[in-house]
Amino acid sequence: MATRNFNKLGEQFGTPLYIYEADRLKENLSNLLNYITYPKSKVYFAAMCNSQFEILKIIKSLGIGIQVNSEHELNIANEAGFNSSDISFTSTGISKVLMRRLIEESIEINLDSVEEVEKFCSFVTNKTFGVRVRLDKKIKINSTKTTNNFFESNVGIEKKDFNKIKEVSQKTGNKITGIHGYLASNVIDTKPFLEFGNFLVNTAYVFPDLEYVNFGSGFGVKYSEQDKDFDLEKVLHYYSLLLHKLSKCCQREIIFKIEPGRTIMADVGSFLVRITNIKNLNPKKSEISVDAGFAEFPRPKIYNSYHEIENLEKKGTRKKVYDIRGNTVLQNDFLGQDRILEEVKETDYLLLKKVGAYGFVMASGFPGKKLPKQILINNGNIEEI
Ligand SMILES: Cc1ncc(COP(=O)(O)O)c(C=O)c1O
Repeated sequence: MATRNFNKLGEQFGTPLYIYEADRLKENLSNLLNYITYPKSKVYFAAMCNSQFEILKIIKSLGIGIQVNSEHELNIANEAGFNSSDISFTSTGISKVLMRRLIEESIEINLDSVEEVEKFCSFVTNKTFGVRVRLDKKIKINSTKTTNNFFESNVGIEKKDFNKIKEVSQKTGNKITGIHGYLASNVIDTKPFLEFGNFLVNTAYVFPDLEYVNFGSGFGVKYSEQDKDFDLEKVLHYYSLLLHKLSKCCQREIIFKIEPGRTIMADVGSFLVRITNIKNLNPKKSEISVDAGFAEFPRPKIYNSYHEIENLEKKGTRKKVYDIRGNTVLQNDFLGQDRILEEVKETDYLLLKKVGAYGFVMASGFPGKKLPKQILINNGNIEEI
């Protein structure tokens, strides 16, 4: 369905409204899979970006795995029909109770600290696990847009502790069979991804029982016209090449893993809102109020993120500069600022693009609002979710 017709969905379902298009998800995944040139690979959808049951059901039907961060996400993945062998669990601060459950259900786990490895090995023998490694600070990211920066965080196990975790696991008959890394979210420049690939694969040689390398994800997405396209093909080709070399060197096939979220999910979702008021600030600029704000779509407020906004009602009319204000009392609740749109009028529909990842799942409803409705367009059917 063309986005210009989404206003009809607004009439039918009301606003604010999240609209997901399953076809885009299928297309995005198919493109991504085509870029992987290493045969033994596995893609896990990063459920944190959109962990809703109906979305996970589609992901499941597309035949890839799922990466979960919490017990709640694990439960939804189970409900959506994922087998244990298709689930990977990576998080921080994992409790003994949760570890026990993951082991009982034979779910792959990537441990994040020496303490977690010690805890795991204190009650488990003859099992396998992966480790999340702390990134090399030499890798530089020249972006202010990333929402997640490893270099200032304590996530992952440091190189200096590798011998210690190997010793602890050997003593208990456990094996470290995987390494996991995660660069950053939404970086468009490919250079740090290539450096990160080198770093992770060099780390891999340290672990003799290695079966997989998981490059995590966080690949960039072009959100604004000013952004370059992220060269996913280049990065995945390079990682594939690294895995070919690593496997040759190890004389066995090491599994190549990634866990993309926004790469395949961002442009699947759009957010439809309706104009409730227009305030003229000066002859050149007006402020549009709409029937949603950070309660329903918090990314612009939390991350200062940019999302393209389209006026669905008017075409070919005069253009004007607008701020688009969310409908809470917060002074700085804006969905977009200084946007040039075709002139709008009250009750027109606006569409925010690329909100399928970290959109509804981050909505809080604060203060005192209902969460927005959501619909999924799949095979020509429209289903409310
Ligand atoms: C461990 C891990 N893997 C994958 C992702 C997915 O990142 P993105 O949605 O940017 O692709 C995240 C997001 O923060 C993450 O923490």
